[in-house]
Formats: sequence, structure tokens, C-alpha cells
Amino acid sequence: MFRVIRYSAVALLAALAGLWGLAWFSHAPGQSVGEAFAQRLAQIFGQDMALPAVEGGVQLPPGITLGGAFSLTRQDGVAVTEADYAGQWLLVYFGFTYCPDVCPTELGRMSDTIDALGPAGERLTPIFITIDPERDGAAQMADYVSRFHPRMQGLTGNAQQIAEVARRYRVYYAKSRTQNMTEYLMDHSSFIYLVDPIGRVRTLFRTDTSVEIMARTIANQLRSLTSS
Ligand code: NI
Repeated sequence: MFRVIRYSAVALLAALAGLWGLAWFSHAPGQSVGEAFAQRLAQIFGQDMALPAVEGGVQLPPGITLGGAFSLTRQDGVAVTEADYAGQWLLVYFGFTYCPDVCPTELGRMSDTIDALGPAGERLTPIFITIDPERDGAAQMADYVSRFHPRMQGLTGNAQQIAEVARRYRVYYAKSRTQNMTEYLMDHSSFIYLVDPIGRVRTLFRTDTSVEIMARTIANQLRSLTSS
């Protein structure tokens, strides 16, 4: 019995080590081994992130924390860091203003979720962070976010600042250009992040999560932290 458990544990460790090795050899330029490893895991366990869904959101496994420090520029040109958002709940989405469909849809869903929360929604600040800083300057961001929610903030930065915040949230993004296209598009991962008042990601929502379920999950999270 114990031997079986021991052998299973060894086999599992060996499999994970193998996967890590594979990630090491296969990670794309600019992608960390950790990201490649997560991608390999995701390929095995599902199309999306290999994390169990709880109450419509994606629960992060113990030991994995997303979020944290950043240094960016708000749509009004003011420099901001994570300290400016301390004590606030945030709904964060990463994308780009030239996105033809996914980004506008998700930002619309973010606004709908805040409205669906009623008075509790006022405790949430919606934030859109660009992964296309080359084209998305502060003025462009200001114009764009105003179309979705009166309180939505748009954050941009230089290439390095964007790479850093994307890394902390494990956001994948890359330029894509087809041959007869002069303009480029951006490939990017698409999650809505619920960030707590100390800047940690509490829940990730996939694009297939309904507004009702997102609102309910967020309401529960707000309540659980207030009562504890
Ligand atoms: Ni997009």
C-alpha cells in the first residue's frame, strides 16, 4: 500500500520534472521557463489554464500568487503604482485598443458586472492595461476607456513596464501580422482578474463566465473579506 503511494509519488515527480525539462527546451524567446511549463501543463489538462474552476472563477493553487508591484501611466498622464490602489478592489483586464472584438466584449462584460453588483460595485475599480504600448498612449487610452465605464481607468507604460506587469499577472501577449496587413494585431491571453485591496489576484474569470456568475462570485469575495 505505502509502496504503491511511494511509487506513484516518484512517478508523478518524474513526470513533472520531465515536463519542466520540456518547458526548458521549448520555451519561446522572451517567455520564461515557468510560463512555458504552465503552457505545457495547460496543454495536458485543458485548453485554458490548468486550474480548477470554483464558483465560475478560476481558483489559484496554493503557492501561486499573481499581481503585485507595477509602475504605469494613467490615462490622464499621471504616473501610478500599485500603492495608489491599496485598499481598493480592482477588476483588471489586459488588452489593446485596436482589438477588433475580444477586448471590447470583455470590457463591456466588466462594466455589466460592476452594474450588476449594484452598490457593492462601487467598491470595485475597473482597470484596462494595454499590452500594446507602442500605439496605446495615455490619450488613446483615455478616449477608449470612457466608452465602457465612467470610472474605468486605462493604464499604459513603456515596453519594459508593460512586460513587467504582464509577467506578474502571467499575461501572454505577442504581435501578430499577416503578410498583406500593414497594421498589426496582438495575440493575448484573456482573463478578467479580481484583485483584492492588497494587490493580490483573488480570482480569474474566463471569457465564458457569465456576468451573473462573475457578479455573484465577486459579491461573495467582497463579503468574505469584510467579515473576516
Ligand atoms: Ni483583445
